[in-house]
Amino acid sequence: AEPIVVAIDGPAGSGKSSVSKQAARHLGFGYLDTGAAYRALAWHALERGVDTSDALAVLDAAGDFDYAISLDPDDYWVRVGAAEVTDAIREPRVSDAVSGVARVPAVREAVNAMFRALVASSGRPGVIVEGRDITTVVTPDAPVRILLTAAPEVRAARRSAEVATQDATAVADALHRRDAADAQVVDFLTAAPGVTVIDSTALDFEQTVDAVLNVVRAET
Ligand code: C5P
Repeated sequence: AEPIVVAIDGPAGSGKSSVSKQAARHLGFGYLDTGAAYRALAWHALERGVDTSDALAVLDAAGDFDYAISLDPDDYWVRVGAAEVTDAIREPRVSDAVSGVARVPAVREAVNAMFRALVASSGRPGVIVEGRDITTVVTPDAPVRILLTAAPEVRAARRSAEVATQDATAVADALHRRDAADAQVVDFLTAAPGVTVIDSTALDFEQTVDAVLNVVRAET
């Protein structure tokens, strides 16, 4: 049978990656971090010296993008070719370049096809797919669709805590710049019809995971 898809969208720093991963563990589901695919492509483009604001050059780099990602929430890794890039794709240079890569429509179509194939071949009863356009574009027919939001100050604070080695103001600025660039491509701040909003501003991590699990139980 086709796996049950739980689609979760939200902005940077909403906690969607860590929350999705933990909810997947509880459910015995796979976990697909679509942002990691865009990040891996940005890493690959930077590695090849590509100007990531040049759509044609990005598309060219996407042509030989050999990418693999684990769907196992307990053994998460990302590879490009022979290189393990799990940590490298979180570097600020990649975060700064990724919106340029994600802006190219042909790139989005190619990665979306890849996401659907990964879900279909996951071998799991379900997959939590997390990103910006999962509820609207990648799997609009998913039985469970969630928009995970949080107030901008809270998102910036959470992201700063994750990257404690970097200056908090610089982290907040980079996050807001990236959100602004991404918002021109997909509207990830408004819930599409039928999408359940979870606002995690006043929730801690476990409460947010429980809120997601409650929606999954109610809708499957
Ligand atoms: O989720 P994360 O912040 O790691 O995503 C990295 C980038 O990938 C986003 O800033 C956005 O440019 C892009 N992205 C996207 N569509 C998705 C997931 C991520 O455009 N579904």
